[in-house]
Amino acid sequence: MNLEKLIEKDIDESKQGQSLQLKENPHSTRKMYIESYGCQMNFSDSEIVASILTKEGFSTTKNINEADLVFVNTCSIRKKAEQTVRKRLEFYNAIKRDENPGMIVGVLGCMAERLKEKFLEEEQLVDLVIGPDAYRDLPNLIREVDDGRKAVNVILSKEETYADISPVRLGGNGVTAFVSITRGCDNMCTFCVVPFTRGRERSRDPESIINECIKLVQDGYKEVTLLGQNVDSYLWYGGGAKKDFNKATEQAQKKSVNFSDLLDKVARACPELRIRFSTSNPQDMTLEVIKTMGKHENICKSIHLPVQSGSSKVLKAMNRGYDREKYITLIDNIKNMLADCSLSMDMITGFCGETEEDHKETLSLMDYVKYEFGYMFKYSERPNTPAARLEDDIPEKTKQRRLSEIIEKQRSHALQHMQEKIGKTFEVLVEGTSKKSEDKLYGRTTHNSAVVFDKKHYKSGDFVMVYIEDCTSATLKGKAI
Ligand code: SAH
Ligand code: F3S
Repeated sequence: MNLEKLIEKDIDESKQGQSLQLKENPHSTRKMYIESYGCQMNFSDSEIVASILTKEGFSTTKNINEADLVFVNTCSIRKKAEQTVRKRLEFYNAIKRDENPGMIVGVLGCMAERLKEKFLEEEQLVDLVIGPDAYRDLPNLIREVDDGRKAVNVILSKEETYADISPVRLGGNGVTAFVSITRGCDNMCTFCVVPFTRGRERSRDPESIINECIKLVQDGYKEVTLLGQNVDSYLWYGGGAKKDFNKATEQAQKKSVNFSDLLDKVARACPELRIRFSTSNPQDMTLEVIKTMGKHENICKSIHLPVQSGSSKVLKAMNRGYDREKYITLIDNIKNMLADCSLSMDMITGFCGETEEDHKETLSLMDYVKYEFGYMFKYSERPNTPAARLEDDIPEKTKQRRLSEIIEKQRSHALQHMQEKIGKTFEVLVEGTSKKSEDKLYGRTTHNSAVVFDKKHYKSGDFVMVYIEDCTSATLKGKAI
């Protein structure tokens, strides 16, 4: 098993830094090159940016040397993510200096928000800096740069959801798509930079979400993932930040739509579409959501439920809003209410003040839940977060050893789950060809398990019943029946 794969989450590793491609546009006059790093939300945002710029006459290019505009959509979640982006910026600048002097270099997303003018003034690395809520302003900012000025807009919004912008989808596999339902986060987990880089939590109009899903079905898509930092906190009451719900009229409050209502509406509106969602926050996930999952065949039986630690003391220091017992109760409810639902998690090891005892509680919680997948990280201090005021007191060597222990445990649980699936048959949605062999197809089950099987006459987008014959801890291998 590739341990690196387990450590670095943030979506499929192979997609990190991928450039977005659109069909050739014969009328376009300028070419853009967009690279995305970080979470699924960033990839989804890049599709919005591409949509805005396509209307401005831009087309995409795979060749950075011929780009008029190079954008990097950035991630600030851990130090390592920021270092990767800095290296890329240096690379773009070398190209600009040596080969393509007219090229505009722009930073989008979370690092733009976190570092703001620093990029423009001190480091002179870029021409344009734009935060995640300001993408509508891109055409103006590009004009400013064309006029010879540096341009910046990092204003965060309480309302912006880009609800009316139809993202361009041509960079994906044509089978699965992301649909964002909330932006920002109000949770203030002490380790996390997201509330600072993405601002207040706001929910998107359910009608625009449903229409986007219907359009995806018409375009041949078979699966959507509803996206938000904390999807269970979704609440539509006519617009605005979630925190302002109490100020809304009584009528608006009565007509409000929560996450369970939204799931139900999407599942009914698109019965042939597979539905996933990410990410659930244990402090907000309700029994109603679990019931709705049970009610609809087309909602995948898989919940990503980041826990971060198995110790109530550490969870309190992280301000996660639940303790070990409350988390276990939620897990028990899921296991009781949904006969066969896969569970996955995020875990942080070596948070400030984490003792060996706390670490053992994390390991014992993992033994209790037995997650199918996990994304595990060493704590990385982020400037200006509440946890940055605490001492980052766990030595690197200890963090690494604890991380290895939880990865090893997760690997054995994953393998156990995979082995239990041998001899059973699952419906697999085919997403493409296996990376290792042209003769095999790759897809996923409702539980989000990866499956490869012989291609025969099947193709991307097909739902195929696959009998599982063998496995690794990451992939099931089978044959179509
Ligand atoms: N709202 C999302 C969190 C997005 S960040 C959610 O609840 O899943 C994705 C993951 O990165 C988090 O769950 C956490 O495990 C990890 N993470 C966030 N900040 C971190 C930090 N400062 N150091 C290490 N890992 C971090
Ligand atoms: Fe971060 Fe916690 Fe929100 S992990 S994105 S502050 S739920």
